[in-house]
Amino acid sequence: MTTTQLSTPASDGEVPAIESVVDVSDVAKNGVYVNGLDAFTDAPAPPTVNDTHEYSDPYAIPLHDQLAFTPRKLRVITAGAGFSGLMLAHKFQHRFPEVQAFLEHKIFEARNDIGGTWLVNTYPGVQCDVPSHIYTFPFEPSPEWSYFYSSGPEIQSYIKRTAKKWDLTRDVQLNTKVISAVWQGESGEWKVTVEKDGVRRDEYAEVFISAQGVLDSYKWPNIPGIESFAGHRVHSADWDHGFDYSHKRVAVVGNGSSGVQIVPQLVKLPGTQVVNFARGSAWIYYRVPPSQHLGGKSADNNPAYSEDQKNEFRRNPESLKQHRKAMIARTNRAFKMFIKDSEGNKEAMRVAEEQMRGRLQHDPRLCEMLIPKWPLGCRRITPGEGYLEAFLEPNCELTQSPIERISEHAIHTADGKRYDIDVLVCATGFDVSFRPRFPTIGQGGVDLREYWAGHSPETYLSVAAPHMPNYFTLPGPRALAGHGSLLEALSWNGDYMVKWLKKMAEEDIKSIVLKTRIVRQLMSYGDEVHKRLVWTGECKSWYKQGTVDGKVTALFAGSGMLYKRLISDLRPEDFEIEYRSPNAWKFLGNGFTALEFDPDSDLAWYIEK
Ligand SMILES: Cc1cc2nc3c(=O)[nH]c(=O)nc-3n(C[C@H](O)[C@H](O)[C@H](O)COP(=O)(O)OP(=O)(O)OC[C@H]3O[C@@H](n4cnc5c(N)ncnc54)[C@H](O)[C@@H]3O)c2cc1C
Ligand SMILES: NC(=O)c1ccc[n+]([C@@H]2O[C@H](COP(=O)([O-])OP(=O)(O)OC[C@H]3O[C@@H](n4cnc5c(N)ncnc54)[C@H](OP(=O)(O)O)[C@@H]3O)[C@@H](O)[C@H]2O)c1
Repeated sequence: MTTTQLSTPASDGEVPAIESVVDVSDVAKNGVYVNGLDAFTDAPAPPTVNDTHEYSDPYAIPLHDQLAFTPRKLRVITAGAGFSGLMLAHKFQHRFPEVQAFLEHKIFEARNDIGGTWLVNTYPGVQCDVPSHIYTFPFEPSPEWSYFYSSGPEIQSYIKRTAKKWDLTRDVQLNTKVISAVWQGESGEWKVTVEKDGVRRDEYAEVFISAQGVLDSYKWPNIPGIESFAGHRVHSADWDHGFDYSHKRVAVVGNGSSGVQIVPQLVKLPGTQVVNFARGSAWIYYRVPPSQHLGGKSADNNPAYSEDQKNEFRRNPESLKQHRKAMIARTNRAFKMFIKDSEGNKEAMRVAEEQMRGRLQHDPRLCEMLIPKWPLGCRRITPGEGYLEAFLEPNCELTQSPIERISEHAIHTADGKRYDIDVLVCATGFDVSFRPRFPTIGQGGVDLREYWAGHSPETYLSVAAPHMPNYFTLPGPRALAGHGSLLEALSWNGDYMVKWLKKMAEEDIKSIVLKTRIVRQLMSYGDEVHKRLVWTGECKSWYKQGTVDGKVTALFAGSGMLYKRLISDLRPEDFEIEYRSPNAWKFLGNGFTALEFDPDSDLAWYIEK
């Protein structure tokens, strides 16, 4: 061991004159000792790493001969390359470029392209239900959006364009499906088995992030006889574009956001007869007429951005920013409207009802069937361009009589009617259980698929799960998905994960795992908050896993502003932290920071005045 000697010991407060230039790399490696004593503590020089020494102190470890906070290498595996996975790619590659020095990222994507939701959902009429300019990657606002609410294809092309611009597919491996993830407690890593072209292989990473999508696995309705249907059957999330739907009798089952978008498109096709089988009502509403956001007055539900407006956004990014900020601020301010029985909610219901009545031309039967009695927002609100108006067309019908069975050529409803059909469109939603779709086995052999089965999935702010060390979800249950754009929240989640990754790497942390009681407390308190919010109203919704009175599993219990505050800092006290050595302070290394060895650094940066 080389001990760096300072020539003259300095008195307190005195800056020693440096007579010989110290080789900084040597100091970094070896510390500073004077006559065999530590220059700062007078303690004897510690043994070198290779010394054999008997320790009685259980926490004694050999000096970790590195600068403090030197990050260790971390491998991260992400499953899924939709908005979530790509958001992470941007965080790691661009937003926090410093992590590149220690982080290796692999994104496994099961499909043959990126985009997730927007790659797969290509049914006619698919579009965003939040304004285009706030449904964007926060790092890539686009002046190019054509309409106030973007179409699915335009969103997918934006995702592809953005990924290309920022090289976000650098770490993506397509056609590579994660088929299991198993935590290896001994080594502190996840064994992730993937399959590509029928060949399986094991990959390893200290951290595993599930970005596998909440609305990814579509569901056929559980209706007796559905398999016997001899006509054309299609699901909204797997649209068959090779089939000609015109001149057909078409049934659309469901009036969630997908069904509401599909019905008017099919009604417009030549020669179709469309029946919408909807078991309940739905709020079809926009809070502020879209054109007002653009300073206009038109009644158009989905106005186009004019070339002038786009040019202004192109020329003046600040005006685009202000346009986006205004919408986001309005959305956040309007959250109070989601308090059940509040004046705000009642007022919004009044306005929405008036809007719906107008769009239904005050048809008493349709108004009675379609205008909900339950609170606005309980189920996802949709602007539903053209949906209400479709029922005023002669070729469109609505029934709310439950479907009893499906036969070879018809749907039979509980009121004794038979609807002869050629095409069965199932806009019947997704498996929204949040259970991973492959074995995800954490501490003590707990499989998250089973742990989250049958009851409200326990989650920590939508980003972590109990018993799953070094595991993040993006988004998980109770996400900020009920008002505004999910994408801003995904970005906050990415920032949060980067904070943990840096901490783990720099502080020699082997694993972090949630304290189960903390999660239970959070869930329990969240349930109380939810009781006051519209989502626990008497509607049936996927936010409650398709129940009327189940727990709210999909949405955060509180406002976006609260969520932002909570997720902006780590609360390490909510986690058990295990270190890679018996001494948690090993990361202090040789007692020096890198800053001190950068000749250009300002070592008095902390002076206040
Ligand atoms: C039709 C539709 C419209 C929507 N509209 C809106 C909207 O207007 N506003 C809004 O905020 N939200 C909307 N959403 C919600 C939308 O899902 C999210 O906004 C967002 O796109 C989710 O992105 P994601 O990356 O989390 O998930 P996804 O887009 O679902 O991506 C998940 C990815 O994971 C991959 N994957 C899954 N399993 C595996 C595996 N085992 N191995 C490897 N890869 C795997 C999938 O192939 C997929 O590419 C909509 C959803 C749907 C279905
Ligand atoms: N941007 C958008 O506008 C947009 C578009 C599509 C999807 N999305 C997102 O995706 C989510 C899911 O939307 P989604 O419409 O695909 O699914 P969904 O909201 O879950 O709606 C499914 C519909 O199918 C009906 N259904 C299910 N099983 C049935 C059965 N056996 N018999 C009869 N009807 C049945 C449901 O009726 P009940 O309600 O009676 O159960 C419901 O109307 C949305 O909430 C939204 O978050 C957004």
